[in-house]
Amino acid sequence: MTIYSKIIGTGSFLPPNRVTNQELAAQLASNGIETSDEWIVSRSGISARHYADAGVQSSDLAVEAAKRALDMAKLGVNDVDLIILATSTPDFFGGFPSTACVVQRKLGITNDCAAVDVQAVCSGFVYAVSIADNFIKAGTHKNVLVIGAEVFSRIIDFEDRTTCVLFGDGAGAVLMTASQEPGVLATKLHANGNYGDILCLPGKVNKGVVEGSAFLYMDGPAVFKMAVSVLDKVAHEALEIAGMDSSEVDWIIPHQANIRIMQSTAKKLGLGMDKMIVTVDQHGNTSAASIPMALDVGVRDGRIQPGQNVMMEGVGGGFTWGAVLARM
Ligand SMILES: CC(C)(COP(=O)(O)OP(=O)(O)OC[C@H]1O[C@@H](n2cnc3c(N)ncnc32)[C@H](O)[C@@H]1OP(=O)(O)O)[C@@H](O)C(=O)NCCC(=O)NCCS
Repeated sequence: MTIYSKIIGTGSFLPPNRVTNQELAAQLASNGIETSDEWIVSRSGISARHYADAGVQSSDLAVEAAKRALDMAKLGVNDVDLIILATSTPDFFGGFPSTACVVQRKLGITNDCAAVDVQAVCSGFVYAVSIADNFIKAGTHKNVLVIGAEVFSRIIDFEDRTTCVLFGDGAGAVLMTASQEPGVLATKLHANGNYGDILCLPGKVNKGVVEGSAFLYMDGPAVFKMAVSVLDKVAHEALEIAGMDSSEVDWIIPHQANIRIMQSTAKKLGLGMDKMIVTVDQHGNTSAASIPMALDVGVRDGRIQPGQNVMMEGVGGGFTWGAVLARM
C-alpha cells in the first residue's frame, strides 16, 4: 500500500500593522530616502506589507498560523509528531534554541515531538514540505506541522531603498498527514552555492561582535535573472516526476517576491495568470512564509478545491530553488 503525505490543514497569520507604499514612502522621505508608490508597484507589484511590532518574533506569528492549520485539520496539538519550521529570521540570533522548539513550547505540545528549523531562505517552505513528505512516506512520522515564518522587517535596512520596499512579515503553516489518497505527487529541490553572494546577510559573528553588515544584501537584477531562469525548469522537473503535463496544474503558487517574476513563470509554463494565487501585492515578499500564506488564502477563499493539483515553487538565497506538486 502506497503511503502519501497529504495537506489536510492550512493557516496563516499577518501581524496587524499594515503599511502601504504611500505610508512607507512618507516614512522614508523623513530620512531623506526617495521612493514612490508608482516605482514600487511598477517594479515589484507590491502595494502593502505588514510589519510585526517590536518584541513579536517569528515564533509568535508561527503559532497563530499553526493553530489555524490544526483547526482546519481537526487535530489537537499533541497529535503533531514533527515540526519543521522554515525561517531566515529565527527568534534567537544563531538560531538556537530553534524557532521550531519555541513553537512547540508556545503551542503547549507535551509529547516531546521532534522539532527542527530549516534554512533555505525563500525556498525554505518547499524544502520543509519535501522533507516532511519523505518522513511521512518512510513511515516514521504521521502528522507533520510545516511552517514558514518570518520577521524580515528586522533584517532590512530602511536606508536601502532597493530592498526595504520589498519585504514584509508573516507566517503560514500546513498540517501534512499520512494518507492512502494521493497528496504530494512530486518534489524537486536544487541549490547552487556559487550564487550565495547575490542574496545574503553577509555579517559574521566573532566573539559576540557582528563583523560586516547585519542587514540583508541583494543584487536585485542578478536575483531577478536567476529566478526567471530556474522557476519554470523546476516546475517541469516536478511534472515529469509525477508523469503529468502543465495543463493538469489547477493552481500555481510561486514564492511571492515580484509580480514580474511570477508573470514570466506563468508565461513560460503556458498558464494564464488566472491560474496563479497572487498575494505579493498585499503581503510583499515574506520569504519562507509567502507560499503557505498564499496557499491558505486560496484555500480559504474557495479557489483551491479538494482534488485539485497545486504547483508550489520557491526560489531564494543560497542560491536555492525547488518545487512541490501536490493534490489537495
Ligand atoms: C529589486 C528590483 C525590483 C529592482 O528593479 P530594477 O528594474 O532591476 O531596478 P534597478 O535596480 O535597475 O534600479 C533602477 C533605478 O531605480 C532606482 N531605485 C531603486 N530602488 C528604488 C526605490 N525603492 N524607489 C525609487 N527608485 C529606486 C535605482 O537607484 C535605479 O536608479 P538609477 O537608474 O538612477 O541608478 C528588481 O531587480 C527585482 O525585482 N529583483 C528581484 C528581487 C527579488 O525578487 N528578490 C527576492 C528573491 S527571493
